[in-house]
Amino acid sequence: MENNILLIGFMGTGKTTVSDELSKEMGVPEVDMDAWLVEKAHMSISDIFDKFGEEYFRDMETECVKELSGQGGKIISCGGGAVLRQQNVEYMKEKGVIVLLTARPETILERVKDSSDRPILNGNMNLEFISRLMEQRAERYMEVADIMIETDDKSIPQISSEIQTKLESFKR
Ligand code: S3P
Repeated sequence: MENNILLIGFMGTGKTTVSDELSKEMGVPEVDMDAWLVEKAHMSISDIFDKFGEEYFRDMETECVKELSGQGGKIISCGGGAVLRQQNVEYMKEKGVIVLLTARPETILERVKDSSDRPILNGNMNLEFISRLMEQRAERYMEVADIMIETDDKSIPQISSEIQTKLESFKR
């Protein structure tokens, strides 16, 4: 596989878990952007935000997208905000298919509520905030995506298999 498969979508849509499954099933290496950034910075995402601010984190994210997208042949699990910058999307599209995962705000809250790893949600762990931010981003996610998959009430293998089916018809 020369191209990348890039998973995008709101926090808690299951990008990392689905990437792992896809990677196993397809025998293609997987890279998680957030994990890559943590390794590069030698600190957690929350610490990057606290110490250097969001803009600095977004710049690191652009570096990450540029480097990983250029390599090809990978399943890349992207941070939820990675497609907000146009430059990032251009890097992604050079060598990749963008798969959008979606979920209802209720599903998202259920999945992320016990985690403190997402600085954007710290202190905002409620349905109203999640719904509002999701609305702000929804159009952007849709416009950059090549393939879209709803994840509510579906198992990980089910989502992975749906992605593979859609990828097949996308290639044709
Ligand atoms: C963010 C999503 C997070 C992480 C950072 C910012 C966002 O990734 O990159 O906390 O702006 O949506 P996940 O979507 O993997 O949680």
